[in-house]
Amino acid sequence: MPLSGKHLLGIAELPTSDIRLILNTARSFREISSRPIKKVPTLRGRTVINLFYEASTRTRSSFEIAAKRLSADAINFSVSTSSVAKGESLIDTGMNLLSMNPDVIVIRHQEAGAPHLLARYLKNCSVVNAGDGMHEHPTQALLDALTIEDRKSRFEGLKIAIVGDIAHSRVARSNCLLLTRMGAEVWVCGPPTLIPVGFGEHYGVRVTCQMREALEDADVVMMLRTQRERQKEVFYPSVKEYFALYGLNRKKLAWAKKNAIVMHPGPINRGVEIDPDVADGSESVILEQVNNGVAVRMAILYLILGAAEEGSR
Ligand code: CP
Repeated sequence: MPLSGKHLLGIAELPTSDIRLILNTARSFREISSRPIKKVPTLRGRTVINLFYEASTRTRSSFEIAAKRLSADAINFSVSTSSVAKGESLIDTGMNLLSMNPDVIVIRHQEAGAPHLLARYLKNCSVVNAGDGMHEHPTQALLDALTIEDRKSRFEGLKIAIVGDIAHSRVARSNCLLLTRMGAEVWVCGPPTLIPVGFGEHYGVRVTCQMREALEDADVVMMLRTQRERQKEVFYPSVKEYFALYGLNRKKLAWAKKNAIVMHPGPINRGVEIDPDVADGSESVILEQVNNGVAVRMAILYLILGAAEEGSR
């Protein structure tokens, strides 16, 4: 069964049945990555272009690995060495790449809505959002959901605390949308300056500036990176103060349930939002998230090309 749409632009647009389908398909693909020869011919002859306008380690390399494990051709487009550096617009770049007949363009862009704009212009190619500004990072939320469900066997009744720079986080937004849809109780926590007014009502989540309230009896603690590259003002007095109030250390983790898991989308800032002792501790599933990222992106490429083949939108 293919995905219901030709593009994957955000969790907001993704039906719950598609979320379930992606998680189940990812589980079935995971085994391929543990084989001695990590390749199946499923997408042979298909072309995936990674069009990244922002830096990435995990998302870009896992989309490339996912495409290659399914035998698709993967092309990495680096903005700094492309004609974008000469002033070419997103649409012109997209239309020129389209002339080379790719099947999927995976885009990360600093502007919210860039993947949606590209999708409007590219008629014969699927677009996947790999993170757009402070808007959404749907594939991150899907791999996070896979990790949570693997560890906790459910979403209903879970208390999930998302802590840190909520305001600038597309990971927080996509996770709030996905995890509340699946029945979890989501709390967001951070300095008042880093939680937008109305966030709780908009996303249907609980909001607190007290880390203890967010973490008490939590099943999942998801820490966020302080996104200094997007912060145009000073949002907290010092890194030392930020860590004292909102950094996760062993003492604060003890407020959560005994078997709570610790997540982080990466890259982590050790000693800023998370203590190295916790990041590397037995509760941490941070590298499991990265591993699941390959399986989720294999599932998405496979299912989205199925959708495009069926001619559905
Ligand atoms: N989680 C995440 O998006 O990491 P990268 O920025 O390295 O892709």
